[in-house]
Amino acid sequence: MLSGAGVSAESGVPTFRGGGNTAVWKGMRFDVISSAEMVERDLPAVWEWFDYRRNFLHELMPNPAHYEIARWQDRFAEFTLVTQNIDGLHQKAGARDVIELHGNIWRARCIACGFTHDMAQSKRPDACLECGDRLRPDVVLFGEMLPPGAFEFAAARASKCELCFVVGTSALVYPAAGLPEIAKAAGAYVVEVNPERTPLSSLCDEVLTGKAGEVLPLFNNENSLL
Ligand SMILES: NC(=O)c1ccc[n+]([C@@H]2O[C@H](COP(=O)([O-])OP(=O)(O)OC[C@H]3O[C@@H](n4cnc5c(N)ncnc54)[C@H](O)[C@@H]3O)[C@@H](O)[C@H]2O)c1
Ligand SMILES: [Zn+2]
Repeated sequence: MLSGAGVSAESGVPTFRGGGNTAVWKGMRFDVISSAEMVERDLPAVWEWFDYRRNFLHELMPNPAHYEIARWQDRFAEFTLVTQNIDGLHQKAGARDVIELHGNIWRARCIACGFTHDMAQSKRPDACLECGDRLRPDVVLFGEMLPPGAFEFAAARASKCELCFVVGTSALVYPAAGLPEIAKAAGAYVVEVNPERTPLSSLCDEVLTGKAGEVLPLFNNENSLL
């Protein structure tokens, strides 16, 4: 399963293209304040923005889509969840071993030694607890590469996939959007769940038009084919 911002929409997390990309934080555009360049230029401002976002997310709960997805990991002999989301709501719903292509907003990472600190468990320290250097959000920012190995691992799983669900992603951000294409080329049956059509829709074997929190729980009954 590949998930995107749409899965968290019903939890109250704004999607990126559903308005988030026009948002402005203290006069700075979203893609400016969330950029690699800004980490270099003004790290405290980046933290101010990410602290604000974590504070907002703190109150939010997983929705029926997150819970259903978490159940699927016990329903199939092999199940891989790859997400573009950084909000941690899949894990909050019980998902294990989530491949996070774009990092996690609840983690801080040392710019020098790479040591990470879990901010869901304890407050953000002022500096790296290992080496004392500066911390930054452990999130893939505009202008940055994906974390090493994450996409490669996801692509390897996609190339052995039999059933691929693509849920709540606009499928515009590559390389993530390439994963269903890899699965399809490997012979997988590809199902999309989204209230709107996406560039991937025409590749899919099945397009389930609707909200993730309403469509996915339909698979959780005795008549379900899964
Ligand atoms: N929750 C998050 O962590 C979060 C939120 C916003 C953006 N982002 C980041 O921004 C980028 C955005 O790419 P993306 O494709 O994930 O998101 P996107 O915002 O580009 O697209 C969201 C998609 O979700 C669909 N959608 C909206 N409501 C839905 C619902 N209730 N159920 C199912 N689908 C629904 C929309 O039609 C759209 O296709 C990613 O890189 C991601 O890391 C993350
Ligand atoms: Zn360090």
